Amino acid sequence: MDRRYIDIEDSDTLVLRTDRVPEPGPEEVLIAVDFAGVNRADVLQRLGLYPIPEDASPVMGLEVSGTVVDVGEDIRRFKTGDKVCALVHGGGYASHAIAREDHAFLLPGGLTTRDGAALPEALLTVWHNVFNLGNLQPGSTLLIHGGSSGIGTMGVQMGLAFGARVIATAGGEQKCQRVRELGAEFVADYRAGDLAQQIDTAGYRGKIDVILDIAGGDFVAVNLDLAAPDARIVCIGVMRGAKAEIDLFQILMKRLTVTGSTLRGMGAAGRADGFRAIEDLVLPWLNAGSVRPVIEDVWPLEQAMDAHQKMQSGSHFGKLLLNCG
Ligand SMILES: NC(=O)c1ccc[n+]([C@@H]2O[C@H](COP(=O)([O-])OP(=O)(O)OC[C@H]3O[C@@H](n4cnc5c(N)ncnc54)[C@H](OP(=O)(O)O)[C@@H]3O)[C@@H](O)[C@H]2O)c1
Repeated sequence: MDRRYIDIEDSDTLVLRTDRVPEPGPEEVLIAVDFAGVNRADVLQRLGLYPIPEDASPVMGLEVSGTVVDVGEDIRRFKTGDKVCALVHGGGYASHAIAREDHAFLLPGGLTTRDGAALPEALLTVWHNVFNLGNLQPGSTLLIHGGSSGIGTMGVQMGLAFGARVIATAGGEQKCQRVRELGAEFVADYRAGDLAQQIDTAGYRGKIDVILDIAGGDFVAVNLDLAAPDARIVCIGVMRGAKAEIDLFQILMKRLTVTGSTLRGMGAAGRADGFRAIEDLVLPWLNAGSVRPVIEDVWPLEQAMDAHQKMQSGSHFGKLLLNCG
């Protein structure tokens, strides 16, 4: 059987190609992909700025949803016909993708495969960085930079479902309003003047316990300035730059923790542990409808370049998907 997949011709050109459908290893499932999530990392990979691990598929795409059509000999949790979503080690921009059994989960009740493709990256990123590294507690205050992103829209809802107070930043009043509609109690527009001052004026200086930072750069000083004593600041992206000046005095006086991570850096076993924790903590919220993926738009697989251009334009809110069926 043939697989359709998107290949990188050069940094400006993506092409649809075909090859043989891959076979699942003993602990893997083969998924007939309905939808694939589009992530920043895919754009960076297309631009040649994201070195992929040696054992990963060179095909773009880190998350998919669809139907299990073949299983490896050691698979116990899934059978052919199951509707699943999964984190994949590359290879998501395709009609068929391989996933480890322990990096997949059955679609929660009431969710479609369209919803499912928007879940794995965002759920695991938020769980690992906000709940695991950030040790968010009910009743504490969470600041999410990039509240309008695929990651941020999920982070706002997960923080609220857990019983935290959630504030955020976004670019432009329209996006700020949409983050407020997700439930954030305060959203600052990073394009509308001094960010620290906006958050200070709203009364949050020294009261923010966990910060999820997709921006870096000059936001690092804002984070250190506004954080509560013993706060955890978790860096997952560098949209404003990878270099920052750090006031160590703030760190030692407030006993701050500054950390960060990448999903690939968690290792396969770490990601599997994350998915088990997500099944316990987050799937009940998805089943109850208190957490829902926010999807801006879907493109046919062969128009993956249009989806990338949309992401690079920065005009989207929430997740972008490819229809691979
Ligand atoms: N470390 C990890 O494991 C991990 C995993 C997944 C994603 N990430 C990172 O998380 C971020 C979001 O990923 P995504 O896939 O959800 O992408 P996305 O939907 O395209 O979101 C990008 C976000 O960055 C914000 N942004 C862009 N330029 C900015 C600037 N100059 N200053 C402040 N904010 C700015 C955007 O805000 P506005 O649209 O409101 O302007 C938007 O919220 C990316 O940086 C990505 O690399 C990290």
